[in-house]
Amino acid sequence: ETSLATELQSRMRDVPDFPRPGIVFKDITPVLADPVLFQRLIHAMAEPFREQRITKVIGVEARGFILGAPVALALNAGFVPARKPGKLPHRTVAERYSLEYGSDGLEMHHDAVLSGERAIIVDDVLATGGTAEATAKLLAQVGGELVGFSFLIALGFLDGVKRLGAQRVHSLITL
Ligand code: PRP
Ligand code: MG
Repeated sequence: ETSLATELQSRMRDVPDFPRPGIVFKDITPVLADPVLFQRLIHAMAEPFREQRITKVIGVEARGFILGAPVALALNAGFVPARKPGKLPHRTVAERYSLEYGSDGLEMHHDAVLSGERAIIVDDVLATGGTAEATAKLLAQVGGELVGFSFLIALGFLDGVKRLGAQRVHSLITL
């Protein structure tokens, strides 16, 4: 039997020079399109948190929505979107973070997670950790308790795991 990590890696597509020259993009859409592999993937991303009494899963726009919503269902938790600035209609908390070129931001509804609620943050890829760290700050602003992070892929050479705190970061694959 092939391990899930091996299977996932063999089904992800490397796209060179996307979105910019020199970057190899990990295309996970073939994994998502396979009903069995998609379900195994979601189960595995939820697994470390099954006994953790998680009540909210925060998914990060955009690809974090695809994985975060089914992980929330798997944990019998609610789903909370962290969105790019200006997309959420109600009162929000906001964080800005720096990118390789310039900066971006994330927002979350101020009442989407209540003080003391136990939450995890889900995204497809952990690279520098800037996105996940900003999401953790959104959760901290509303007083939620961050139990951990669940990623499909962690890019080890970028030190995102160290930045977020290794013991609370889970990923199915490290590249
Ligand atoms: C990608 C990826 C993560 C983030 C990781 O999102 O989906 O959210 O980068 O990078 P970091 O750890 O260095 O912050 P991106 O905003 O590029 O695209 P998306 O909207 O398609 O998810
Ligand atoms: Mg993203």
